[in-house]
Amino acid sequence: MEEMGLFQTIHTARALRRLKPDPVPDDVIAKVIDAAVRAPTGSNLQNWRFVVVKDAGRRRQIADLYRASMQTAQNVLSHRKPPPHMTAKLQKQMYDGAIYLAEHFGDVPVLLLAWLQLPPDQDNPNVPPEQAETYRRLSGASIYGAVQNMILACRALGLGTVLTTVLSYKEAELRKLLNAPPDMQLFAVLPIGYPIEGHGHGPVRRLPISDVTYMESFGNNWPKK
Ligand SMILES: Cc1cc2nc3c(=O)[nH]c(=O)nc-3n(C[C@H](O)[C@H](O)[C@H](O)COP(=O)(O)O)c2cc1C
Repeated sequence: MEEMGLFQTIHTARALRRLKPDPVPDDVIAKVIDAAVRAPTGSNLQNWRFVVVKDAGRRRQIADLYRASMQTAQNVLSHRKPPPHMTAKLQKQMYDGAIYLAEHFGDVPVLLLAWLQLPPDQDNPNVPPEQAETYRRLSGASIYGAVQNMILACRALGLGTVLTTVLSYKEAELRKLLNAPPDMQLFAVLPIGYPIEGHGHGPVRRLPISDVTYMESFGNNWPKK
């Protein structure tokens, strides 16, 4: 397969939730994780840890937790108005996709969970509490690059995925199921499989950068093209 260009990959890496149950070879999953570990981490700690779940029984158990989490999330989301750039129809399509995924989560062949081993609260006991709090809050940023690299690697390899976080509602149960050590925090769950309906057409639709970017300070918009 010819490799996709970087910008084509970025522009077409949409959320894919309808995935075939067909297995994904381990060497393909290894490529996805290898892309993740090329990303940066704060202080180069490389404190990410990835759990790959392929076992059908374990996937079913996680799927039960995912479905329950979605019900909790729906209590919140069902009251949310669509953002100005989205019609109610498009928002419904997105939620329908999310519900479809929840109902078929156990059939997705690979669940890839991204965790960070959080650094100790205070390496230096003399750090004031508010600085320690800022440090703690920002340490989660170390997962940003890894997760996006995995999304892009999936796209380039012909796989579908979507960044999900909803399982955090059932994190306690998930931790037990996966023997997660106490210093490990869950940041993302990527269901991965080959897409049922391909990768869609054209680039993902987003607001133009002139709507979301300012020159020098807030209020002075980046010029429209
Ligand atoms: C932080 C974050 C959390 C998300 N959590 C979920 C989730 O729990 N379940 C889900 O189906 N999609 C989830 N998504 C996917 C978004 O709904 C999706 O990326 C967005 O609608 C854009 O989709 P598009 O790229 O196809 O336009 C999440 C995305 C992000 C960035």
